[in-house]
Amino acid sequence: MSQSKERDYVLGTHGDELERLGVQHRAWRDVVLDCWRTAGITTGNKVLDVGAGPGYATADLAEIVGRTGKVVAVERSTNFVNAIDHTIKTRGLSNVQVHELDLMNDALPDGPFDFSWCRWVLCFVSDPNVVVRKISDALRPGGRAIFHEYGHYTTWQFVPPRASHEEFRNHVVATWRGSGGDPDTGLRLPAWLKSNGFAVRSIVPRIFCIQPGDYMWQWPAQFIQVHLLRLQELGQIDAAFADRVLADLAAAEREVPSFMMTPLVLEIVAEKT
Ligand SMILES: C[S@@+](CC[C@H](N)C(=O)[O-])C[C@H]1O[C@@H](n2cnc3c(N)ncnc32)[C@H](O)[C@@H]1O
Repeated sequence: MSQSKERDYVLGTHGDELERLGVQHRAWRDVVLDCWRTAGITTGNKVLDVGAGPGYATADLAEIVGRTGKVVAVERSTNFVNAIDHTIKTRGLSNVQVHELDLMNDALPDGPFDFSWCRWVLCFVSDPNVVVRKISDALRPGGRAIFHEYGHYTTWQFVPPRASHEEFRNHVVATWRGSGGDPDTGLRLPAWLKSNGFAVRSIVPRIFCIQPGDYMWQWPAQFIQVHLLRLQELGQIDAAFADRVLADLAAAEREVPSFMMTPLVLEIVAEKT
């Protein structure tokens, strides 16, 4: 089902971004496994992974639901779909189906699903409410939709503050909004869920205060490194500015005390009524 032309988006779907998503998934893995367990995902479930990226969560979900369960991953990027195909082959996962599709324009695969998982996707689409409606249609009554979406992106800051980082963060937000997305989309999600037949069961803020030696530091640090290149490619910043941001990141990693507040993510679990 591969398309001939890669369908990119604001963060990119190139090799460095594919690897960055892996680092990001590993940094968040404990939180995510706990979230899935609390929401009730277990052996035998049928789970829809919405905007699955290269499939890091897809593979974990497939192991959890086991042979009697099934994971259906939907993703628009051919590069990422190929990565999912590669992962499921090398990990011997026979319970994963992958569909290359555009969430805004295409129908979702037939359900009904017991759960959906959607992380950092609604913040990139032009009309998230359309996607929420499609997810609602795909779930069985009593099925649960689970989301991780940013709720307040500008909570992301270094302590002590680094001026170049704040400028970088503002470029990220401006480029993101300029491409039709909304980094704080999690704030609007509960209302969309309610109007699409869901009862919101829980909303949990996920924010971390991390130091350079913490494993999770790799998540924002690698985002800075990879996205600086992306912003240069998009013509938003120049190399001199990128060097300044990297120098400030290195200083933050060297100087003590130094920590970072991560961008606030809302973990939202809603039940189809
Ligand atoms: C930040 S990545 C998150 C990927 C994955 N959910 C994860 O947590 O690792 C956002 C993903 O949304 C996908 N995406 C963006 N717009 C999309 C659309 N209209 N239809 C399908 N996928 C889309 C991108 O291709 C990308 O894989």
